[in-house]
Amino acid sequence: MPIIDIICYPDPALTNKCSPIENIDDEVIDLANSMVETMYSASGIGLAAPQVGVSKNLLIIDIGAQIENGSAITLINPYVTAVDDSEVLEEEGCLSIPGLYANVVRKEAVEVKGMDINEKEVSLELKGLLARAVQHEMDHFNGVLFWDHLGKVKRNMLKQKFKKLQKEKLVEQKKLKKLC
Ligand code: NI
Repeated sequence: MPIIDIICYPDPALTNKCSPIENIDDEVIDLANSMVETMYSASGIGLAAPQVGVSKNLLIIDIGAQIENGSAITLINPYVTAVDDSEVLEEEGCLSIPGLYANVVRKEAVEVKGMDINEKEVSLELKGLLARAVQHEMDHFNGVLFWDHLGKVKRNMLKQKFKKLQKEKLVEQKKLKKLC
């Protein structure tokens, strides 16, 4: 399955509201499989369809870290069925905002339900990092990025920093082109 380019901020695809998937057809299955490859090649533990330019409620999460024999799971039209009252503040990043991290408050544990690519209902009880990841990915369905959970001053600071990082990256790429 081909690896897909991950869209980075400020691409407008990241702020679109996503819609549910009506039919789990071959196109959806191919997308999910490509997203798994893409997530692993980018060393992520989660990836949402809008990050590859598809405004649909589909996410991939790598549950290998939590569940024995587990690996990447596709969740189609996921929804939260229960949350833990306790919240945790931990650092997180996003494959669409590479190089930046910030402390974000998330629920410590969540239960989510959705469908997999075989149209089977999936129910997951996630805690810690994976609970954080699934909340982060589901935010992408609403065009919400991790820095939207922060105050305006902090958010604007991070956006400026990201612009600077991207600019530096472009300069580096131009330098490389001159060398080869
Ligand atoms: Ni993200």
